[in-house]
Amino acid sequence: MLFDNQTINSKGHLEINGCDTVELAREFGTPLYVMDEDMLRSNCRRYVQAFKSEYPEADVAYASKAFTLVGMCRLVREEGMWLDAASQGELYTAILAGCEPVKILLHGNFKTEAELSDAVRYGVKVVCDSFMEIEQLAEKSRKAGKKTQVLVRCNPGVNPHTHTMIATGQEDSKFGFNIKSGEAMEAIRKVLAKDSLVFKGIHSHIGSQLLDAEPFRAVAPVVADFCAAILGETGAAPEYMDLGGGLGVRYTEEDKPLSIEAFAAIVTDGVKKAFSSRSVPLPHLLVEPGRSIVAEAGTTLYTVGLPKQVSLAEEPFSRIYVPVDGGLSDNPRPALYDAKYTAMIANRADRPKDTLCTVSGRHCETDCLFADILLQKAEWGDIMAVQTTGAYGHSMASNYNRFMRPAVVFVSGGSARLVSRRETLEDLVKCDVI
Ligand code: LLP
Repeated sequence: MLFDNQTINSKGHLEINGCDTVELAREFGTPLYVMDEDMLRSNCRRYVQAFKSEYPEADVAYASKAFTLVGMCRLVREEGMWLDAASQGELYTAILAGCEPVKILLHGNFKTEAELSDAVRYGVKVVCDSFMEIEQLAEKSRKAGKKTQVLVRCNPGVNPHTHTMIATGQEDSKFGFNIKSGEAMEAIRKVLAKDSLVFKGIHSHIGSQLLDAEPFRAVAPVVADFCAAILGETGAAPEYMDLGGGLGVRYTEEDKPLSIEAFAAIVTDGVKKAFSSRSVPLPHLLVEPGRSIVAEAGTTLYTVGLPKQVSLAEEPFSRIYVPVDGGLSDNPRPALYDAKYTAMIANRADRPKDTLCTVSGRHCETDCLFADILLQKAEWGDIMAVQTTGAYGHSMASNYNRFMRPAVVFVSGGSARLVSRRETLEDLVKCDVI
């Protein structure tokens, strides 16, 4: 499984965008997150182009939770996209990167006072998620003499059938106001009644890593019905309709996600049909992809330790453990979601993957990254490349066992630039009161 810009060079090494991964590991150390900058930009452009060509009043907001760094937020801004921030920290990063506040959406099921204050101060759009938050936001905006633009997060009651940990569109969810129960309408009435808030529209996000078109098709009619009801009951037509993110990616060859273009066609077609048949004005459409912009652009490089073959009394009678110099702290997804990945020995990428092994992380617990995965025969000192790690790897990384978070490089046209340096021992204790 090689993505665009990934090749095996004459030395038999994996090369990404003209950069030999073995050289990258030597220069920047491991573990290392390597991001293909050209693929990041191309995914952003494909999204913007695909949506705007089908639906001119559309914008694409990058869900920065998937991978947040100043360098990434800047890239997104340069590509003319909006940004979805899910916390004060993501918001701060986006502002630092120069993202325009009117093109930032602030999310969160329980926003802190500090988050709401920042939202008002910067003038970003807030996606409200609770009655209390509407009150707090209105009060803060009033005191600041500002009018804050608000979208209301609505729950369409669509179960996307993805991993339960990342499904949010069903009614039994901590997010949003349910449409069917009438709470979503009540929230909108409350927003409309506040002089310091401007009701801009509705938001719904149904889930993540969706490989099937069905949930995306199911959402538009529900949301269009709701927009018609809002117009009928309040006289206000939602100006924005934000359908969240969710498009899946290829972690292994078995994953067959929709292309960005097919996804855009399904969503825009569904929205146009649903709105025209209900005679509600077409809203400005927003989508918030995260994973599908960054996942496949990311590859993690590890150094391999000494493989260990253990004999077992029962089937399979022996197992080869291949240790790498990272694990749970740079990629918690296998432990959290039983996520599968594709890996290779980057310095022998031209050889067949003929050895069944279990790749284990270095943390002080089982820390199984990949069970029973086929790889080239691994030896001490090899470089292992794990593909599709660009989303929710770096952004969910931790300092467990006081590991230092890896560096991030962007590669383009045969050269690599550091976008986030590796943490140091000093970084680890910088908040400790000594
Ligand atoms: N918008 C909202 C409101 C969201 O909650 C999310 C993801 C997105 C957009 C972006 O969804 P995407 O296009 O990335 O699927 N940590 C999990 C994924 C959690 C997703 C949370 N929300 C993982 O590693 O799979």
